[in-house]
Amino acid sequence: MNAVISGTGLFVPQQVISNEELVEAFNAYVAQFNDQHRTRISAGELEPLKPSSVAFIEKASGIKRRHVIDKRGILDPSRMRPHIAQRDNEQPSLQCEMAVKAAEQALSMANKGAADVDMVIVACSNLERAYPAVSVEVQAALGIDGYAFDMNVACSSATFGLQTAQDAIRSGSAKTVLMVSPEICSAHLNFRDRDSHFIFGDVCTAVVVEAAETASGDDVFEIIATRLRTKYSNHIRNNFGFLNRCDEARRRDVDKLFVQEGRKVFKEVVPMVSSHILDHLREVDIAPATVTRMWLHQANLSMNQLIAKRVWGRPFDREEAPIVLDEFANTSSAGSIIAFHQHRKGLRVGDIGIICSFGAGYSVGTVVVRKSDQ
Ligand code: COA
Repeated sequence: MNAVISGTGLFVPQQVISNEELVEAFNAYVAQFNDQHRTRISAGELEPLKPSSVAFIEKASGIKRRHVIDKRGILDPSRMRPHIAQRDNEQPSLQCEMAVKAAEQALSMANKGAADVDMVIVACSNLERAYPAVSVEVQAALGIDGYAFDMNVACSSATFGLQTAQDAIRSGSAKTVLMVSPEICSAHLNFRDRDSHFIFGDVCTAVVVEAAETASGDDVFEIIATRLRTKYSNHIRNNFGFLNRCDEARRRDVDKLFVQEGRKVFKEVVPMVSSHILDHLREVDIAPATVTRMWLHQANLSMNQLIAKRVWGRPFDREEAPIVLDEFANTSSAGSIIAFHQHRKGLRVGDIGIICSFGAGYSVGTVVVRKSDQ
């Protein structure tokens, strides 16, 4: 039984932070810090903090702005983290609320209602609680009968989720799967860290995967093949977890937020991803030249350009490997799905595309799709 992607949805928070605003807040924090510690700095006991720059951010990453849940808290130099109040148990959680908005769009595009869905996956990098699973809450909010579970493979969560959805449909354990990726990356980002304060944004994507024979949407993509790989690395890491409260001394260390060795990630992940894509295409007997579009994970503009160049071995247009980083920044697992959601027009029946994610783990996932005649 072939599985297809029949709908996608995107929820975008209304608040936007430009690079200029972000750098202004960061540099105000730096000035404040250096002023507060001027005695130790002039005694040579402490290094002064260096300012950030808009030009560096755009050149190093391709990011121009990011959408966030709360701008005020992030841009306050004395706080530099979003204000997100904990909600009462009786209220919908923030991730559930984001997921429902994206899911409604995806279901409507797929021409499906809650009664058609029997499996819900929340696949994302950070979950706001351990249990009950956010996916079960989303399932209840949408009135879906069936089962739901949360999964996390960091930036690769969505492609790992797509393979899981496809496997469930092929094995008959589900008929229609709703996968949502509510990413609140601003809550795990260290806005006081010059190397990474610009990297992430918030967003939620949704995808409907179902059996080809039940698909009735207008824009359907057949999943031809999926391939996943992981290889352990400490170069992207977040040590936030349920054990933190047991170690008072280290509870507030910066490793409870996103930390990375950006240069090493760049050098190690580009070859891993490009050879993964090429090996996968070889396995399924598809020539890279026949791939019409690559919807890559959105972490860094140069990384994406290098990966696409290695796969195609030729210059390519921006539309062939779309970039959404400028508008959204890195939105973790949602990035490749935003690119797919916004940039799949123009493909003709039979055209082949690849949705590809990569990130912490390390992890890499490819989903080869073909535009269907449905
Ligand atoms: N503003 C101004 N200058 C800055 C800066 C900032 N915000 N941050 C760093 N710099 C400086 C550094 O101090 C360094 O200066 P130096 O050479 O004088 O020491 C210079 O810019 C280069 O820094 P570097 O960290 O080597 O930059 P880079 O070109 O490697 O770009 C990343 C940094 C993080 C954007 C890039 O390495 C990257 O994207 N890596 C992959 C990250 C990724 O995809 N992670 C996955 C997350 S899912």
